[in-house]
Amino acid sequence: MDLTTHYMGFRLSNPIIIGSCGYTYSLKDIQTLVENGASAIVLKSIFEEEIVWEMESHMAQMQRPMPLYPEIYDYFDASTLEDSVTKYLNLISLTKKSIEVPIIASINCVSIKEWIPFSKRIESAGADALELNIFTMPSDLNRTCEDNEKIYFEIIQSVLSEVSIPVAVKLSYYFSNLASIVKRISETGVKGIVLFNRFFEPDFDLDSLIVVPTNVLSSPSDIGKTLRWISILSERVKCDLCASTGIHDGKGVIKQILAGAKAVQIASVIYRKGPKVVAEMLSEIKQWMEEKEFHSLDDFRGRLSQSRSLNPAVYERAQFMRYFSEKF
Ligand SMILES: Cc1cc2nc3c(=O)[nH]c(=O)nc-3n(C[C@H](O)[C@H](O)[C@H](O)COP(=O)(O)O)c2cc1C
Repeated sequence: MDLTTHYMGFRLSNPIIIGSCGYTYSLKDIQTLVENGASAIVLKSIFEEEIVWEMESHMAQMQRPMPLYPEIYDYFDASTLEDSVTKYLNLISLTKKSIEVPIIASINCVSIKEWIPFSKRIESAGADALELNIFTMPSDLNRTCEDNEKIYFEIIQSVLSEVSIPVAVKLSYYFSNLASIVKRISETGVKGIVLFNRFFEPDFDLDSLIVVPTNVLSSPSDIGKTLRWISILSERVKCDLCASTGIHDGKGVIKQILAGAKAVQIASVIYRKGPKVVAEMLSEIKQWMEEKEFHSLDDFRGRLSQSRSLNPAVYERAQFMRYFSEKF
């Protein structure tokens, strides 16, 4: 049974990559995940603000009226920001020395700032690849979608001119013309696109009357959005697609390969079930392939992609035309 796949130029032993999350911020957790079969690791992201923080004086930073990315304070205490860059570079070199699978560093970024040359330091620290988690919330009423999209291309081009390691981009679905932007990003020279990132979402606590995070972890029912877009875009874009969000079992991985993904990334399911879930997912995939008499992932990859479908409209159906027209 051959589970190998190629993603971003790497030959991976299987399609399960650990997505950037708290489990990919310590060597011990990473080792456990690799022992359970993870084929590559995306390290926890370093934020552009952390990098810029290192470059500016502490006082200057304190005077900023508003951080570029307010979410940073959900993750980091200001007192820990200062040495986070050093820690991150050490994590890359330590992990690289200690484990065999590809190590993909990750930067959360929102703008073209002084942080761009830092990608070179990530490469020098030994990262095999770099994933850019680019996200600007399209919440500014005065910005056009062209304004919002431009920043993605500027960041990608600047980073590509800094490093020679392969670069991937992790995207959200907050675009007015998603298929077009994914296609255009795939033509920039990036080696992979990860669909999709998952976000902190607000809820209101009605007792304390404050905003609180909700649904931090995904559930298996969240897989649909990624499945639709990997199916629509695979075989039509110029780089590898990696599926992320809602993949909680071997079946989820199989579905994404059927859609045309080169690999998948998982995060929430590790929080829910622990690192051993990777081994369980791999054996579920093998068992299914055995039953279906598939010998390699290429035997079924893309079989349910839109471009090979006899009924392509089914991937674009969005309205509940028949469902719920009658009361249960
Ligand atoms: C606790 C937690 C922390 C995360 N931190 C990051 C991060 O630093 N950078 C990033 O790109 N994605 C981060 N993610 C998003 C995941 O990498 C992944 O894209 C998302 O959770 C969807 O996959 P899932 O459904 O398997 O969880 C985080 C997710 C979780 C649950």
